[in-house]
Amino acid sequence: MNHPVWDLPLLGSGWIIGIISIIHVSIAHLVVGAGIWLAFLEDRAQRAGDRELQAWLRGRAKALLWLSAIFGAGTGVGIWVAIGLVNPTATQHLIRAFVMGWAIEWLLFAGEMATLIVLVRAYDRLRPRQRLILYGLYALCAWLSLVVISGIVAFMLSPGAGWTTTHAMGDGFFNATYLPSVLLRSFVSLALGGLWALAAGGVAPPALKPRILKPTALFTLAGVLLTVPAGWYYFQSFPPAARELVLGNLKGATGLAQGFRWALLGLGAYLLPALLVLWGVFRPATFRRPVALLGLLLACWGFGGFEWIREVARKPFVIRDVMYSNGIRVEQVAGYQKDGFLPQNAWARTFAASKGDTDLAKGEALLRSQCLACHTRDGYRSLKVLTASNTAEDNVLLIQGLRELDPALNPYLDRMPPFAGTEQEAEWVGKYLSSLNGK
Ligand code: HEC
Repeated sequence: MNHPVWDLPLLGSGWIIGIISIIHVSIAHLVVGAGIWLAFLEDRAQRAGDRELQAWLRGRAKALLWLSAIFGAGTGVGIWVAIGLVNPTATQHLIRAFVMGWAIEWLLFAGEMATLIVLVRAYDRLRPRQRLILYGLYALCAWLSLVVISGIVAFMLSPGAGWTTTHAMGDGFFNATYLPSVLLRSFVSLALGGLWALAAGGVAPPALKPRILKPTALFTLAGVLLTVPAGWYYFQSFPPAARELVLGNLKGATGLAQGFRWALLGLGAYLLPALLVLWGVFRPATFRRPVALLGLLLACWGFGGFEWIREVARKPFVIRDVMYSNGIRVEQVAGYQKDGFLPQNAWARTFAASKGDTDLAKGEALLRSQCLACHTRDGYRSLKVLTASNTAEDNVLLIQGLRELDPALNPYLDRMPPFAGTEQEAEWVGKYLSSLNGK
């Protein structure tokens, strides 16, 4: 934790990652499903000798290239920039643990781009069979990139005891939530890709419409329905503490409970496209694009809700049981509590010195380092609001209480990391907290 802390007022650093990620994962899953759908429909069209449909699919491949290359890749780079700025320590940790995984991921992305570019640019020179192989290869590369990334994302929720001792990439990669996560994400991809395809099919020439919409609607329906058992299987694979965090927070008026309720509503909304697509099956001639777009929006809400739950279920860690959200590793806490955080963290020390090394400056340096990963001063999960009714003494006692490592004595341990500093440092944070409310 010797990196500068990026202080983002109002929104908080987590939401910067959150917003970019929600857009990115929606597109990334959509293009995987759309790739599988393209191969599936091209195969049908070739078998039926349907030239018209093949020509229409060529246009969809072009659209997919744009979507993947511009929006998918652009937001993907955006995530790297955001996580690198927001949580450099965790980013560094993930790169080290999975360097070959990332390399494979980038190769697969290059494969996706290459196959689509060849398809789009050299379409007329390819024989039907070659086209089908390219469609298939694109789908395979896109799906395999999901298979690789899932391992790394699932690792953050359930790194597993094996990895914690061996630090071997395979032990971290094939973790408890990995397989359920691949299944779930694959089915979500089919649903999102299918809805995107239905949106395109909704404005296809009338004669083509039924040939596109019927199989596409069934493809989408399968994706939506298969998500349900996969989601259940996934939730069962959660580490018990993560499951308790989710279930324990479904009631009440806390910010966390409200978030969970929104996410759950989203999971319900995710199922509505199953009804909407029936229109495409039974009345393809009257099916319209906005119906598919509405379905896509609902499915993205549900998927965003799922991602939010997965992120929150990791609390208070960024890598469960290994590293807290504020970049402090579990095994570092004892040393910081004994010998102090400031003496061992050059950035925080320099920050405090730049503000005159007063108690408030030291408190602010500590608070930036240890709290702003999840809170803001006066915006999202506002510290000012959360401590509004506390006296100055309450605040000091609260932070000193956060030093406690026994869950029976520190009820916050399921959502907040222990305070990694001395009693004296806790007092400085307490004083700084009070200053937010002018106390
Ligand atoms: C891993 C994320 C995380 C970190 C890091 C974190 N908190 Fe929290 N904190 C939370 C969550 C989640 C809540 C519950 C908020 C809710 O449900 O509305 C919370 C609640 C609080 C509350 C309200 C407690 C109550 O009884 O209502 C205070 C005060 C607070 N945090 C202060 C801090 C301070 C000070 C730090 C740094 C030393 C810190 N937090 C670090 C996640 C975190």
